[in-house]
Amino acid sequence: MCGIVGYIGSRPAQDVVVEGLRRLEYRGYDSAGIALVDDGALATRKRAGKLANLEKLVAEEPLPAASLGIGHTRWATHGAPNDVNAHPHVGASRRVALVHNGIIENFADLRARLEADDHVLVSETDTETVAHLLELQVESGEDLTTAMQRVCAMLDGAFTLVAVDAHDPDRVVAARRNSPLVVGLGEGENFLGSDVAAFIEHTREALELGQDQVVTLTRDGVDVTGFDGRPAEATQFHVDWDLSAAEKDGHDWFMRKEIFEQPRAVADSLLGRRTRSGALQLDEMRLSDQELRDIDKIIIIAAGTSFYAGMVAKYAIEHWCRIPVEVELSSEFRYRDPILDYSTLVVAISQSGETADTLQAIRHARSQRSKVLAICNTNGSTIPRESDAVIYTHAGPEIGVASTKGFLTQLVACYLLALYLAQVKGTRYGDEITQVMEQLEAVPDQIEAVLGRCEQVYELARTHVGTRSVLFLGRHAGYPVALEGALKLKELAYLHAEGFAAGELKHGPIALVEEGLPVLCVVPPRGRDQLHGKMLSGIQEVRARGAVTICLAEEGDATITPYADVLIPLPRVPVLLQPLVAVVPLQLFACELASAMGHDVDQPRNLAKSVTVE
Ligand code: F6R
Repeated sequence: MCGIVGYIGSRPAQDVVVEGLRRLEYRGYDSAGIALVDDGALATRKRAGKLANLEKLVAEEPLPAASLGIGHTRWATHGAPNDVNAHPHVGASRRVALVHNGIIENFADLRARLEADDHVLVSETDTETVAHLLELQVESGEDLTTAMQRVCAMLDGAFTLVAVDAHDPDRVVAARRNSPLVVGLGEGENFLGSDVAAFIEHTREALELGQDQVVTLTRDGVDVTGFDGRPAEATQFHVDWDLSAAEKDGHDWFMRKEIFEQPRAVADSLLGRRTRSGALQLDEMRLSDQELRDIDKIIIIAAGTSFYAGMVAKYAIEHWCRIPVEVELSSEFRYRDPILDYSTLVVAISQSGETADTLQAIRHARSQRSKVLAICNTNGSTIPRESDAVIYTHAGPEIGVASTKGFLTQLVACYLLALYLAQVKGTRYGDEITQVMEQLEAVPDQIEAVLGRCEQVYELARTHVGTRSVLFLGRHAGYPVALEGALKLKELAYLHAEGFAAGELKHGPIALVEEGLPVLCVVPPRGRDQLHGKMLSGIQEVRARGAVTICLAEEGDATITPYADVLIPLPRVPVLLQPLVAVVPLQLFACELASAMGHDVDQPRNLAKSVTVE
């Protein structure tokens, strides 16, 4: 939520900052702004709407050449997304400019005190208050670093702040608490970004900041302290992906590119997980086998798409490991006073590693002595750092706001965790684990096969322009897939879309079915259980009431043909692994339908990529 960029060096700061904002725009696109320091004065431009609006403004009203600047792309929290509320915000005498991500919870008090001292604040934002406070400090003779330390000590809430002082052309100062910020290390130049995408074009060496730290960037150095001014440690890391991962690579949307990257992402997430003897290994996890053996309950916490990955994980872990699993929305978790202790493992799933609801849930779990294992795609992000253990997914940067390859790689990590627990606890034999691993290793080619038939799904999607409502049905591991298919359609095509467990239909939702309603049905593979037959009954029930049935079913499954108005073939995979292939046509469907409706697929309205406020 909100993208932040800072630069100090010798290049034109405007170019570096605007390019950085372009790469972070997926984090929020309600407004964009830039501030440069030039010859003892601030030059600022900001505009409501997407970055393109700011670029147009800058073309009409050019900024001076400067080698020091900050920028912001906003997802609005306090105040409407208009020009006035856009960042950067400046102090009363336009000496300090500030950009901010997060929420200052005590801003109303601070603002009231400023107003009592005759400060005139023009925006509705919490950020402007902080800009005034910083400026008061520098005007009293403090340097910007000390000013930032002092002001941060006054603030409650979550924030990343980046500021410049017009009278100090040799430093950019930033601070973070519970909100993301990374430093990019260059030669004679340094960078700040909400994530490394902001500066990946210029450097792959980065510094991960801890909580409650202030960082001062000069052209030749980076200095980190705590809010108390004492020197602090930050961890240097190398970014293992390059600029090409942050480009669309010939696709019209990042989302489409990321859907097509899924075979590689799944393969990468499986890489190096087996020893020569065939045993499963999860090297980076940091939990001992004994600690895992002591676990008698698992609670999975996550939000949105990651929550649906957690639902699939429940089926897999309970089936293979016979450990009870609860799946809970992060935002609900700590408010229901969950029963936790040292024998409960909490698994937090987050693509971004920054979701505030999930972070707070983790903190609650750890305060109750539970161990937390994060499943995360973002190296160096807050959630893995605050967890006891981590399994990284290897999706590479996910830029489309709607999660796709993030979801698939989370599923892979969940299966690996389930199999590893089964191995450690001895609930499954090695041969069986090897067999599932082989099935998983075949999945990238199977996804490739699904993608090879994308034209069928695209055509289908285009015939649904104008549709107002779509239902999704699934059973077992196909149920979370139905929920995920519906979520994709809501967020991209702004349609009424609902996912149901097919067995629940007759308990209410069937009342929604009317003539012509499209119902997408995820049909379980034929097996020894009765799932497939029960699903068939559900399909017949909606079809009998006029629904158009679009069935995703195993290729060669002739039993489905009489009941499917449209049949989308899926490769043959066991029911537990079916989400890995079944979700792909649903992603393609939502992407193509939204695109055909003229929507911005990568930046759907009202959304932002990482939700860093509760
Ligand atoms: C949907 C989507 C969101 C995220 C959710 C959690 O396409 O992307 O629902 O899944 O906001 O985000 P992470 O996984 O970053 O914690």
